Amino acid sequence: MDSAPKTDRDKPLLLKTLSGEYTSRPPVWYMRQAGRVLPSYLELKKKHSFWQMMKDPELGARVTLLPVDDLGVDAAILFSDILVVPYAMGMGLEFTDNGPVFETALSKRDKPFQHLDPQPAKLEYIYRVITSVKKSKPPHIPLIGFCGGPLTVLCYMLEGLGKKADFPEAVKFIYKSKKDTKRLVDMLLEMSLEYIRGQVRHGIDVFQLFETHAGLIPWELYKEVFLPAVKTIAGELRDLNIPFIYFPKDIGTGIGDVSADYCDFLSVDWQTPIRQARKMVDPEIGLQGNLDPRLLYSEKPEIEKVLKNYIEFGKEHQNWIFNLGHGFKPGIPYEKVKYMTDYLKTADWHR
Ligand code: CP3
Repeated sequence: MDSAPKTDRDKPLLLKTLSGEYTSRPPVWYMRQAGRVLPSYLELKKKHSFWQMMKDPELGARVTLLPVDDLGVDAAILFSDILVVPYAMGMGLEFTDNGPVFETALSKRDKPFQHLDPQPAKLEYIYRVITSVKKSKPPHIPLIGFCGGPLTVLCYMLEGLGKKADFPEAVKFIYKSKKDTKRLVDMLLEMSLEYIRGQVRHGIDVFQLFETHAGLIPWELYKEVFLPAVKTIAGELRDLNIPFIYFPKDIGTGIGDVSADYCDFLSVDWQTPIRQARKMVDPEIGLQGNLDPRLLYSEKPEIEKVLKNYIEFGKEHQNWIFNLGHGFKPGIPYEKVKYMTDYLKTADWHR
């Protein structure tokens, strides 16, 4: 007897899209979907600190799954932060109302290496959160693990805090000593690989690298000093059989240089129109993105107009994941996020 026709239900939508299979609509998830815009998260935040929510396996799993329950997104992203890696390398870290702050800014030290003391065991609490998510998540929802890109994480380590968007001390350090920068990138890469293997061992289904500050330096310099680390990460994930999404924000025409050696999917920022990105990026690489989250300050007809354009794009392109062109910031109205999610999930994608 013929087997029943395949439906979107037999394998998570996101995993199907990542492996090039047919889906009746693109998967939908959002960068920074767990914190910031969810009323349920803002309630929990009144009672628990960010560290508490990250470190407690039950709380961490609960927050990871809030957007799945509240918004109905097609994937969960681990509730953690990119700065847990330097924390595990010995850098004291606090999350304040003004963003993350390190005890020591490495750029202020004569011998920055002596202030680092990598201890992979300091990531164990995150693996407990992953185990807890795996136990409680619905089976059709894959779990996305992540870490920060080498330049982005190094910027915070060198600068000490994330308040100044242009990271002046970090960029000065990079230009003053490429040799020291490369040595720090190597140390960071080693810890990131350890962290990636740990996440995979504990059951993540997909991995994303957040290189949010890739546009801070010329692309040529990025390619020389930082991109080799991305290739190593991509190779590691390929060996581990985990789909890899790379998000190098603000690299402009640099997206044309990213070959399939660097990622399976490329997450595109909101500056580049998605169709233009599709023309520039290697056809072997799938795309993710790239709605400007601030569109959700607009009225519904305006939002609908933009979503319809994405639906047109999605009609013709299977290897694409709907997402934002950068993570949500607090203040985006939750009700609009819900409206967008429902709209995308119930639209006729003509596939
Ligand atoms: O949905 C999620 O939020 C998933 C977990 C997640 C967090 N941070 C939790 C968090 C992820 C994927 C990140 C990534 C991250 N962290 C990036 C890349 C993000 C991107 O969209 O490109 C960066 C640059 C950081 C460093 C960081 N952590 C900053 C600059 C801040 C303060 C500003 C902000 O984003 O809110 C944080 C704190 C942080 N990380 C919060 C959360 C939920 C806010 C904590 C709170 O609610 O007080």
